Parts: sequence; structure tokens; C-alpha cells
Amino acid sequence: MNTSAAGLKQIIQLLSEIYSSLEPEEILYQSLKGIVSLIGCEAGSIWELSEEDKKLFFRAIVGSGSETLRGKTLNLGEGIAGSVAVSGKPRVIDDVRKSSEWNPDFDKVSSFRTENLLTFPLKSRGKVIGVIQLLNKEGGFRSHDIELIENLSGPVAMALENARLYLFQKRLFKETALALATAIDKRDPYTGGHTKRVLEYSRGIGEILEIGGNDLERLELAAILHDIGKIGIPDDILRKKGSLTEEERRFIEKHPEIGAEIVEGIPGTETLVDGIRYHHERCDGSGYPQGLMCKEIPIFARIIAVADVYDALTTERPYKKALSPQEALGYLKDREGHKFWKDAVQALSSLLTR
Ligand SMILES: [Fe+2]
Repeated sequence: MNTSAAGLKQIIQLLSEIYSSLEPEEILYQSLKGIVSLIGCEAGSIWELSEEDKKLFFRAIVGSGSETLRGKTLNLGEGIAGSVAVSGKPRVIDDVRKSSEWNPDFDKVSSFRTENLLTFPLKSRGKVIGVIQLLNKEGGFRSHDIELIENLSGPVAMALENARLYLFQKRLFKETALALATAIDKRDPYTGGHTKRVLEYSRGIGEILEIGGNDLERLELAAILHDIGKIGIPDDILRKKGSLTEEERRFIEKHPEIGAEIVEGIPGTETLVDGIRYHHERCDGSGYPQGLMCKEIPIFARIIAVADVYDALTTERPYKKALSPQEALGYLKDREGHKFWKDAVQALSSLLTR
């Protein structure tokens, strides 16, 4: 591995350690679950305050119907949780139907019937960063419940802060990886914007194929880093305008393995490595570096291959004109199941026509 490739490996390793650490959102959820059972109530939620948006976002929720509430938001000052976020003072309400601030909309969506509640502000360095809301305790919430939450709110606020930081770091990692890949992209003057477009197509195909959560994030990273191995290809070959000699072509064809070597060995990156190493494999075994058959090619690589070829076909190069989206799609469809994974080609087709 040359010096620049080794440096790149070091940066990716550092960033990946952040990425593969334990999910703080899971810690937040487990903390809330513990509190709900400790207090002996029916349900609970943790909301994060976004100062920028002046809104509260659900970060964790425990209890029946909780799935339907994911993604909901509250304006600052709206409802009881919103007012606690403004005042920074806990509230206990023994009968929500007698409260003018109670918003029954969430109950309607989740088919839950809220009777009483305790809402407590979560603070970090004296500032409200969110609220915890507990619902339905038989006989209502009493002063010892408030005391208990007061004692637990510190660690919960810390977990919330960590979850927030974690999401920020994840975004930072993705953006840094994209910046690195784009910088490498730019060495080849004819492929401007290739990485970003391959990312968009791969993400779209992945969503249609119902790849979700962490797997979708990993597919995105693999798409971003798929050509990172081009850092090891000398400029005179990479930027050559005329046709390549056999030897030069063989050199360029090393880029998937150089890329895989850069990311390899970093904990939690196995699927990324596969996506990078095999993105030039073809279903009929005619690809490189190993000439794998379709079923042997990891799914991320099969998806990236379709996204990569579609972008190459629709981009103008000095030696060829760009195909129209329909022509490029037609090219892939003619070869689906033969060169390219049929499911990915069909997913790309629905992505482009929706
Ligand atoms: Fe490539």
C-alpha cells in the first residue's frame, strides 16, 4: 500500500471507531424502559429539544402504540412537554382531560388512553436539552416519583446528549468520507460528481429493496467509498485521454482491491469492504477481480455495480457520448440477470420513473 493509501486508511479507521461504537439511541431506549418499570407506569417517552428548529423530537418511546409515534414532533411551548421544555420545571397532571394544555392527538394516533402524567425537564449544564414524560401510574404520580426522576434525570440527560453527539458524529463521518471520495473523484476530470450520484442511486435502490436502518447506512458508505482505491492509480494512467494499453487497463482494474485494502481490518466494516472489492464483478462471472457469479457477489456490490454503470453510461466522456436515461436503463435491462442483478436493475428503473 502506498503512503497516501496508508494515510487514508488511518483516517477511515479513526472515523470508523466513532461509527461502530455502541448505539447511544439504544442506551437511551433501555434507560427509559428501566425508568418506566421502576416507577411502575404504563408508558414513557424522551424528547430532544432542537434549539435550531424550536421543536421537540421523539428520541425514545416505550409503551403500546409507540411505533406509530416515531418521527412526530412538538413545537416548543406546545402541549405539556413543550411547556416543560420552556419553563424547565417538572409538571404532574392527575387528570389530563381537565388540562387545557393536553393535546389528545397523540393518543388518537397511537390508540393509547392517557390518564395522568409526569413530565420532567432534562438538563445539561443547566440548560434544558429535552424532556422525559411518563404516562399512567395507578393512583397518579406522587412526590417520591418526582424525586426518583430528579435523581435519574442526570444520567438520562447525559445519554440524550451522547445520542445527539453520536448522530452528529455519524453525519460527520459520512460527510468526511464523501469529501475524501470526492477529492479522489476530482483527480479524474471526466468523472465529476460520480461518487455523489452513485450514492444517490445506490441509496434509492436500497430503499426500494427494503434495506433499512444500519444496513442502508452501510450501503451508503460502501457507495461513497467504492472507488476510493483509485488513490493508488498513478495520474498518467487515471487521466489518460487515449485508449489504455493492456498493462494500464490491468493496473486500473486493481482499484477495487486497493480500496478494499484501505478499509479492510477496521472493525465493523466487513460489508463495506465487500461492496468496494466486488463492485466490478458481473453476474455471468465476466467481472473482476475474482470473476464471481451472481449469487457469490455480495448484495451491496451488486447494487453499487448497477448504480456505477448507469452513471458511467449517462455521463459524457472524451471518448464517448452520454446515453439518455432511457437508453442507459435499456442497456441495463438487456443485461439484467445476465450481467447485472435483476432486482437492482428493476429497483433503479422504478426509482427513475417515480
Ligand atoms: Fe470502480
